Amino acid sequence: MQRVIISLLLVAVSNMLADDGALLFNGNCVTCHHINKSISAPSIKVVKERYLSAFSEKKEFVKYMSLFVIQPDENISIMRDKIQEYEIMPILGYEESVAEEIASYIFETHF
Ligand code: HEC
Repeated sequence: MQRVIISLLLVAVSNMLADDGALLFNGNCVTCHHINKSISAPSIKVVKERYLSAFSEKKEFVKYMSLFVIQPDENISIMRDKIQEYEIMPILGYEESVAEEIASYIFETHF
């Protein structure tokens, strides 16, 4: 019984985290990164594809994307052509855990 309760709790917590990722992404990133269209920034599809081709493992993907989101810097960019095209992404001042949650949501989501 105890094990059932614990696993139900774990499912509830992971659902909450997944929802947070969606909320955070939609509230903070979509204004610039539209799903399909590249207008003021490359679309999230384009960004995700580029990151996946460099970091196919979730752990690496999340680590490197969060690093950039916390502190956008040309030296760690894997999309320098996009910096030329749009200028570098502004610093948005996220905590590491928040940036990681968003990056994890991007990795898991089929856009
Ligand atoms: C004010 C507009 C703006 C917002 C808001 C924004 N971005 Fe960006 N982002 C850009 C632009 C412009 C680029 C392309 C230039 C660059 O790579 O810095 C970019 C590039 C990126 C890149 C590619 C980095 C690289 O390797 O060069 C990632 C990853 C990224 N954004 C993630 C996010 C995430 C996640 C969010 C939400 C937390 C977000 N961005 C919010 C404008 C924005």
